[in-house]
Amino acid sequence: MAEPLIERVWAWLHATFPERQIYIRSDGRVQFFTFSPTLQATLAGLSLIFLGWVAFASVNVIFKDRIIAAKDHRYQQMQSTYEDRLADIQVSYDELNGALVSAEDTFKATADKLEAKQSTVARLLDRSCSDCHSQNTVWPWYSEVAPVSWVVIDDVQQGRRHLNLSDWAKYPPGGARDKLHQICKEVKDGGMPLREYLWAHRDRQLTPQEQATICEWTDAERQRLADSR
Ligand code: HEC
Repeated sequence: MAEPLIERVWAWLHATFPERQIYIRSDGRVQFFTFSPTLQATLAGLSLIFLGWVAFASVNVIFKDRIIAAKDHRYQQMQSTYEDRLADIQVSYDELNGALVSAEDTFKATADKLEAKQSTVARLLDRSCSDCHSQNTVWPWYSEVAPVSWVVIDDVQQGRRHLNLSDWAKYPPGGARDKLHQICKEVKDGGMPLREYLWAHRDRQLTPQEQATICEWTDAERQRLADSR
């Protein structure tokens, strides 16, 4: 099987490239070269390879710009996709940041409002209650005159025993909640500040608005204490 194939190739080679001879005459001498079928086939093969290489190189040179342009285009596409993605991420990051900032603002505003309310209430209690319910008693001149002095001193001692704002932080949560409830009740009913105290300190009277503010605070504070348990 293998031998007939080689023979056929050999026969085809001889038919295609029959042996040729080239005569050259120079200086009166004649020389001739013999081109065997094998040599011719080899030369033909080499020429084909050379031509192929020339063709490939030419195509590369001619289309180089186009190839580069196509690659560039792809790179640009990839880059713009990448940049779009990046922009998207940036946008969502900005949104998140904005949400955080506004949450922080809201929180700060609420805290500020709460603090303002607290300090309003603190001012009210300080003005109208602290003479009898704290250590910061400002003793009036008549507290040194008996028998009024007995009443006043008794009021302050009793007042402190019932509610001492200076010791507020020491109240256990349950006790504090009871006191808060009583504070609102006393204030709303007009039981506190004591009536006889108001005779001498008209400006310590609480307006309905101020009573409401105090009760608002006691409610909120009781809620806070209940929640924090
Ligand atoms: C002139 C002194 C005086 C002033 C001012 C005063 N209190 Fe009193 N307070 C007392 C005395 C005395 C008692 C205890 C006897 C009583 O309940 O009447 C008392 C009791 C209380 C009690 C306890 C009630 C109970 O049932 O145990 C609360 C709560 C109270 N006061 C809140 C206030 C608040 C809030 C203010 C300010 C808005 C205030 N007091 C202003 C003298 C005072």
